[in-house]
Amino acid sequence: MLRGKRIVLGVTGSIACYKAADLASKLTQAGADVDAILTESAAKFVTPLTFRSLTLRPVFTDMFDPNSPMAEEHVALARAADAMIIAPASATTIARLTHGMADNMVALTALATKAPLLVAPAMDSQMWGNDATRANVASLRARGVIFVGPAEGRLASGTMGLGRLADNDTLLGALRQALGAGGDLAGRRIVVSAGGTQEPIDPVRYIGNRSSGKMGFAIAEQARDRGAKVTLVCGPGALATPYGIERVDVGTTAEMADAIGRATEGCDALIMAAAPADFRAANPAGQKIKRTGADLNVELTPNVDIIAGLRGGFVKVGFAAETESVLVNAHAKIAKKGLDMIVANDVTAPQAGFSGDTNLVTLIDRAGEVEELPLLTKHEVADHILDRVARMISARR
Ligand code: CTP
Repeated sequence: MLRGKRIVLGVTGSIACYKAADLASKLTQAGADVDAILTESAAKFVTPLTFRSLTLRPVFTDMFDPNSPMAEEHVALARAADAMIIAPASATTIARLTHGMADNMVALTALATKAPLLVAPAMDSQMWGNDATRANVASLRARGVIFVGPAEGRLASGTMGLGRLADNDTLLGALRQALGAGGDLAGRRIVVSAGGTQEPIDPVRYIGNRSSGKMGFAIAEQARDRGAKVTLVCGPGALATPYGIERVDVGTTAEMADAIGRATEGCDALIMAAAPADFRAANPAGQKIKRTGADLNVELTPNVDIIAGLRGGFVKVGFAAETESVLVNAHAKIAKKGLDMIVANDVTAPQAGFSGDTNLVTLIDRAGEVEELPLLTKHEVADHILDRVARMISARR
């Protein structure tokens, strides 16, 4: 999403400027061409050389620089940008933007660009909460400016509150979403499930499985980056919520079934990457089961098959995590569960298991067409799945 994209990074006066250096580095590593612009105040906190060294490109500070590599740099940068992000954005910069001022290179470029403009505020919570700032933010939002953050936490003043610069994963997610807003899933609503569920045996023990949720999270992110509105229903796990995605946390398969039933109303597609537990304890104990030295038998009863039970006119994609006879089992599941497509993988294959970042899968559609994909990252696999989903949604409409 960021490869080859021209991103203008406006850096304004805040101690959080040092974090913008890391953002410049992450954007550059992701393949973006970063044009950093520092205001005079920003250059008091960090040096232009920091950004020059990280982006390997000229850095702009002065709109009257006679030696600038660009003849008409203010307009040239604004025109070339695929997106502009101001991080950190001070209260003064937000006020400048509100009034359409162009008295420094950051404000001027923001005024001149037609690219999506993202603003990541960083300031003391009292400044953020001031009526003047709130009115400025509301006015900019109404004009389509995308605000990211601020986050809550410890502020430079030593107090706790709202005003921290959003973290770089959030800023990168917001940029990716803004860049992909017109993608092939724009206007589509996609529900993705991820991770395993946990079925209690007693208040401290449960039946679970090895699903990490990484495949479902990758699909959710890639769908967001293609313009979709994404709801991610996930079992317990430590993965951070990607920016711009509605997350619904569930514990058991029954809870997942409820959440997915609600989320899929009126959706365009369900991609069921989760591994809901197929069984639950028939009679979970109300108190912790004590060790007595004797055998313990836990009676299990089957859970609902979530995806098989859903009918609603949307595209249904299932996964088949198998340990043997992968294709035969996957074909059978398409018919049994009424799927449009299944993503089959042998979870015992090296580099294709649950917790890694790669996957080796075969896509099989309802017509029986089989596409074997090479070993790919989970994000690349997600894009192959979404290529098909986008086509299937269009075909249905
Ligand atoms: N699935 C579901 N509800 C369940 C179990 C599975 O919706 N209770 C979904 C999974 O999310 C996946 C697909 O069904 O998309 C296939 O899951 P899998 O575990 O491979 O199939 P099962 O039906 O559980 O069959 P088995 O465990 O016997 O292989």
